[in-house]
Amino acid sequence: AESRDGDPGEIATLAEIRRLAAGCQRCDLYKHATQVVTGEGSDHARLVLVGEQPGDQEDRQGRPFVGPAGRLLDQCLQEAELDRDECYVTNAVKHFKFERRGKRRIHERPNAGEVQACKWWLDRELKILKPRLAVALGATAVRALLGRAVGVMKQRGQILPGLDGLQVLVTVHPSYLLRIPDSDAAERARAAFIEDLRKIHTVLG
Ligand code: URA
Repeated sequence: AESRDGDPGEIATLAEIRRLAAGCQRCDLYKHATQVVTGEGSDHARLVLVGEQPGDQEDRQGRPFVGPAGRLLDQCLQEAELDRDECYVTNAVKHFKFERRGKRRIHERPNAGEVQACKWWLDRELKILKPRLAVALGATAVRALLGRAVGVMKQRGQILPGLDGLQVLVTVHPSYLLRIPDSDAAERARAAFIEDLRKIHTVLG
């Protein structure tokens, strides 16, 4: 529902997005999350990295990709000779969705309605930044950025056209790498992820 977000046309800065998104009730996820987690990074980023949604640590700290998946992402960016400080890092969905199991909070995938509702914010982040390239980390980000489902494993490493001239590099989500039990397979998957990230240089030089 519209209401406390103000007129979309009036949002001109990332700081304003952060301020307004703090009161977001566009879907029900705000009810159980600690706080909204909007994007973070350079105001002049030519590269935007888009994840799925904040995890447990991100929800507590109010910053994207600061937990285990974020640490792995940072390492892989470094190995691909990319500087996180020059990126803008955000998520398709800005509130943590989880199921409580005892004291633990277990990540739950956001549904299509939640992704659609939150796309309102992602669209505004992109409109302000006008990046050259967005990296879709996993299926949820792909859906948000391309407006359709794409087979991530089939299309990974490819750069697909998004809206308004945005180019979208499809790859896996770093959390997927953390879930591979076999260490050789995990190492290969990590190398493949870094290989995908290196494609960023072909667009940004
Ligand atoms: N996973 C995501 O998709 N985003 C985060 O910010 C953290 C974990």
